[in-house]
Amino acid sequence: MNASMPIDQRTDNDRWRSASWLCGLLSAILLIAGSAISVWSAPASDPQAGVSAAMEEPIAPLPLASSENPAKVALGERLFGDVRLSRDRSMSCATCHRFDRGGADGLPVAKRADGTLLAHNTPTIFNAGFNYFYNWDGSTETLEAHAERLMLNPDVMDADWPELLGRLRADPSYDAGFKAAYPSGLNKISVLDAIAAYERSLVTPNSRFDQYLRGQRDALTEAERHGYQLFKSYGCVACHQGMNIGGNMFQRFGIFPYFRPPADANKSGGRVDFGRFQVTRIERDRHVFRVPSLRNVALTAPYFHDGQAATLESAVDTMAQVQLGKTLTPEEIGLIVHFLHTLTGEYRGQPLVTPAPGTLE
Ligand code: HEC
Ligand code: HEC
Repeated sequence: MNASMPIDQRTDNDRWRSASWLCGLLSAILLIAGSAISVWSAPASDPQAGVSAAMEEPIAPLPLASSENPAKVALGERLFGDVRLSRDRSMSCATCHRFDRGGADGLPVAKRADGTLLAHNTPTIFNAGFNYFYNWDGSTETLEAHAERLMLNPDVMDADWPELLGRLRADPSYDAGFKAAYPSGLNKISVLDAIAAYERSLVTPNSRFDQYLRGQRDALTEAERHGYQLFKSYGCVACHQGMNIGGNMFQRFGIFPYFRPPADANKSGGRVDFGRFQVTRIERDRHVFRVPSLRNVALTAPYFHDGQAATLESAVDTMAQVQLGKTLTPEEIGLIVHFLHTLTGEYRGQPLVTPAPGTLE
């Protein structure tokens, strides 16, 4: 493989992402304004007219194959599952980003190996390469920067570079693998690059919804197609759009004034969570969070940055009320949930699944 390929692709990807971000922001403003008007004014004959016509398919299917360098991906895969990345050798990345939990952990907020809780719900690692910002508050912009920050974070891996590189170099198979894949061998840059290459390879294409987008109309049942129509016409798609059905913009959690996020405090000890404000210290960023991707969302309960919604039904109900000012009927919620279930894709040719509810540890 041409050594410059991943960089070229990243550039294209970045371009796509910036364009999509801007476009997303504009459509969000338009659609939210539209939906707010439809709430505050007397019911129009068809308050949604024009919305879906303006944006026929605001979501693109995921690419069917990853074009990351296989040697780098293989090294990243080993690192991702390696407890040597944490100082006390108790956790690997895969401790919290589990493939049998949709790339997350099934918990309200993440739990370290010693049982202590982190501040936030674990987002899925699948398709993370298509997001524009990382973490709920969008505090990092590249996977490489994110991985370094997390490895050095005393609350997560608590590693330091000299010790970590020493551990990895002491393993002859890592040393040989890195020398083969990178001209400079095993060092901080190549370790971060391998982890990021692996993360970018974690794409879950060919969901039934993507098959539908590629023209196979019968890949969705009538109820699922109806759910997608509601998702578009009610304006969910204003924020959850683009290839990742999210991940490319920031929005306030709780746009409608009568709502305040419950207790405003997450479950990890009552700390007030102001989201993006914690990063920027700009007043208008209070309660603003990155819009999460909805790909594979049926597998990643519980939901929201603090895991406050136990089920997809409850997450959709809350979203409609606080982001769109609408109270949906149980039937409408059910249809949208049916649609969200069609966003589950495949990894390495196998459909993603999680164990039945109640059997999670
Ligand atoms: C103890 C559990 C835990 C471990 C171990 C862990 N993560 Fe995470 N990960 C999280 C949580 C929680 C977040 C969200 C953090 C936030 O928003 O504050 C996250 C976020 C991420 C994200 C951002 C995803 C997105 O779309 O925003 C990536 C990428 C990621 N982790 C990769 C890794 C890698 C690589 C490792 C190993 C070096 C790792 N994680 C280890 C819990 C964990
Ligand atoms: C104004 C933007 C906006 C609109 C409109 C919107 N959402 Fe969201 N959505 C968000 C944000 C921001 C979050 C993250 C909230 C948080 O901090 O936990 C989110 C989170 C979610 C989640 C939880 C995902 C997870 O992994 O935890 C689901 C499910 C969801 N939205 C579905 C919907 C549906 C269905 C609709 C339409 C009824 C909708 N959203 C409308 C911005 C929006």
